[in-house]
Amino acid sequence: MAWDVRPTTDLEEFVDAVGAISHYFGSERNLERAERFGKVLPRERMHAAFDGARIVGGAGAFPFQLTVPGGPIACAGVTVVGVLPTHRRRGVLTAMMRTQLDDVRNRGEPIAALWASEEMIYRRYGYGLASFVGEIELASGYSGLREGPDPSASSRLITLEEAKALIPPVYDRVRASTPGMFERTQPWWDLRNLDDPPDRRQGGGVKNALFLELGGKPAAYALYRLYPKFEQGSAAGHLEVIEAVADGPVATRELWRVLLDMDWKASVKAFLLPIDHPLQHQLSYPRRMRMRIGDGLWVRLVDVGAALSARAYCGEGPVVFEVEDSFLPENAGRWRLAGGTAERTEDDPDLALDVGELGSTYLGGFTFAELVRAGVVRELKEGGAARADAVFVTAAPKPWCPEIF
Ligand SMILES: CC(C)(COP(=O)(O)OP(=O)(O)OC[C@H]1O[C@@H](n2cnc3c(N)ncnc32)[C@H](O)[C@@H]1OP(=O)(O)O)[C@@H](O)C(=O)NCCC(=O)NCCS
Repeated sequence: MAWDVRPTTDLEEFVDAVGAISHYFGSERNLERAERFGKVLPRERMHAAFDGARIVGGAGAFPFQLTVPGGPIACAGVTVVGVLPTHRRRGVLTAMMRTQLDDVRNRGEPIAALWASEEMIYRRYGYGLASFVGEIELASGYSGLREGPDPSASSRLITLEEAKALIPPVYDRVRASTPGMFERTQPWWDLRNLDDPPDRRQGGGVKNALFLELGGKPAAYALYRLYPKFEQGSAAGHLEVIEAVADGPVATRELWRVLLDMDWKASVKAFLLPIDHPLQHQLSYPRRMRMRIGDGLWVRLVDVGAALSARAYCGEGPVVFEVEDSFLPENAGRWRLAGGTAERTEDDPDLALDVGELGSTYLGGFTFAELVRAGVVRELKEGGAARADAVFVTAAPKPWCPEIF
């Protein structure tokens, strides 16, 4: 069956389209909440799938500026994707993905990115695993740092209201050079990061904001929550780091020192860390971080030529790719990347790969050599992966997206 998919045009449609995913979160229909959500997700970026007059699925796309190697570019931040249980496995998602990707391409956004609820879903639409995230649980007895405190560091607790002015500039400085981070608008900060509705605390205390300066200059911040608990007279609770962003190594170390040294807890937990987190080199007992790795951002090159030409490279090339793209066949074929520009070519290819694997390398999260070793990229000329990596690998940190959107 061909499903009718189109952007929502009013609040009623918007709330019903978002309602498909809200169903799985156990939330009730709420116009007021949908109106607030509309401040970060424009109505025309929310697609609805119709069965007759009824909305049975929805898929949104935030208009992001996402940092890639070299700086920020336009990116569709795919979000609130859902199909009602009455209509699943009948092609509704596939219809929505097609309409959404066409829309993204027409808007001139060369890439799309998302967090997947399940890793099985999005490869078929051309997304590739583009970054990892690490989660840690560090027991309090093993949270010492190799270096002593820096005398120029001073920290203070601030209110969430004060945080609205103080922390975005720090985030923006780190964002500028970290692939995977996206620009947050003021409504985004207000609604998503610096809001603290009691029904979202999940048994924890209030959201706290910690602000750190080095030599009197803003350098880092953390948002965290305490889960206090005592067992047989001893602290058994934990501190959960919601987000800790620091500009540079000393700021990172001193920010985490405050978090790790806090009293009345048995451990510190954090969930969305970059896997090359400097803390691994700063802690006396890095093994005790117990970092568990999972998939982070998935990236889709929506317009291969424009996307490859949009990021910065370390090497000149050329390197030639034979790209497969069954979902968006207009991307398929041979692409030559030289001097930072990608063009169609008849030259012999170095590598053959699916567009999803280009997504995996796009932010710098994975190398072509790794993907050849995994058997998901084929080397058609000897040394092709090494040549491609010499072009792609930059000095940027591993891609990191600190927030599930
Ligand atoms: C995941 C979800 C959106 C899929 O929607 P759907 O309309 O059932 O998907 P489609 O019918 O278009 O499926 C397309 C293909 O993907 C497969 N697929 C879809 N969801 C899948 C899943 N969770 N696991 C494995 N395969 C899946 C289907 O089997 C189908 O395969 P086929 O083409 O080989 O037959 C829907 O089940 C849902 O809303 N789930 C709960 C919310 C959720 O996880 N949303 C995603 C947020 S990131």
